[in-house]
Amino acid sequence: MLMQEIILKKRNGQVLATEEINFFVSGYTSGAIPDYQASALLMAIWFSQMDERETADLTRAITDSGEIIDLSAIEGVKIDKHSTGGVADTTTLITAPLVAACGGQVAKISGRGLGHTGGTVDKLESIPGLNMALTMNDFVRVVSDCGVAIVSQSPNLVPADKRLYALRDVTGTVDNVALISSSIMSKKLASGADAIVLDVKYGSGAFMQSLEEARKLAAMMAAIGERAGKPTTVLITDMNQPLGRAVGNALEVEEAIRVLRGETGGDLLTVALALAAEMLVAARLAEDLNEAEARLQAALDAGGGLRRLQCMIELLGGDPRIGDDPSLLPRAAETVPIRAAATGYVSCIDTAGIGHAAQLLGAGRATKDDAIDPAVGLKMQVRLGDSVEEGEELGRLFINRRENFERAADMVRECVAVADQPPPMSPLIHDRIRSGGG
Ligand code: URA
Ligand code: CA
Repeated sequence: MLMQEIILKKRNGQVLATEEINFFVSGYTSGAIPDYQASALLMAIWFSQMDERETADLTRAITDSGEIIDLSAIEGVKIDKHSTGGVADTTTLITAPLVAACGGQVAKISGRGLGHTGGTVDKLESIPGLNMALTMNDFVRVVSDCGVAIVSQSPNLVPADKRLYALRDVTGTVDNVALISSSIMSKKLASGADAIVLDVKYGSGAFMQSLEEARKLAAMMAAIGERAGKPTTVLITDMNQPLGRAVGNALEVEEAIRVLRGETGGDLLTVALALAAEMLVAARLAEDLNEAEARLQAALDAGGGLRRLQCMIELLGGDPRIGDDPSLLPRAAETVPIRAAATGYVSCIDTAGIGHAAQLLGAGRATKDDAIDPAVGLKMQVRLGDSVEEGEELGRLFINRRENFERAADMVRECVAVADQPPPMSPLIHDRIRSGGG
């Protein structure tokens, strides 16, 4: 088989055979196929798309490039949750322990921040002492003891995704249905869970900017789950503004803890509860979404979610007292307010831009080898539709170095449009899609 023929075929809009997809994935993983040929094929896929069968084959080939975790030692339905990437989105840190508090077994492999979006691994690693690089035996033990384990991807898990992702990140080929679906679903299939709940984000802070593309992505991932025999539920949720208020690693952990302590809520809690309810139903721990939501609310009120999170933090080597006293998290040296330049209503928020501003302060990486500062970031004060007066605080930067902070403040100000009229409000949860069409 010749790689250049596979590239030509896809460039010309043809459907690739299973063997051709396997040849590409195994050859690229082993190093036999160079980056320039892989880049060309990725770009051809970006333009020509892949159908469901091709995407399922790509997913399977990526899954099989490394080890597949065996969670059979854990009793009950093991359930996993994943988001396509957003800003101020700590739903994992809220849903996973709440589901555990309701009897669920949550076994989750998380990623690092990507572009303007945050990653759960970076967030949790802002907790002093915490280490997410567990052996598989330890992963199983934490799930068994706490009902929830969130760990980072080991080098042995989906190595093909790791290589392809890094290449996509620098070749303009991230935002494609087949490529995102196969990247996410390969990790889900390799991580051994029985049922999968996905959060597909759409809007100014998501990789999928249009609702139509988000629906295609959701349908594709549900279809791949179905083909793999893993019941998959997808919610399409709004990312036209930061979901929570905090953007930055320790700041986001603090916000998630405050949600679990019942001190704050808002859209972040609404989406977290909706995802958690789907997880309970998928795990057959609740008959329907109403029962699931009632049980989750009771767990939240009783502090059960917080205790599960603290259990996991302790077993991962972190300081569980941050759950009682979030001020033990790393703190930035200085805060700087960002003020509105005009009076009116917040009509639009460039959410990716907000993510980039936090990244610029050191909360995310500009290149893959950059170190991040766990303490820095920003907090948004306003949400879409809020009325603001000139000079009112839109948000606040949390900084450790004065470098770049003025640019970051300008970026945030430019990301928040103020107009005479409030914008039309779109629903927070747009749609729900289940594998098998249920
Ligand atoms: N998250 C992933 O893991 N992969 C993608 O392609 C996009 C988001
Ligand atoms: Ca106001």
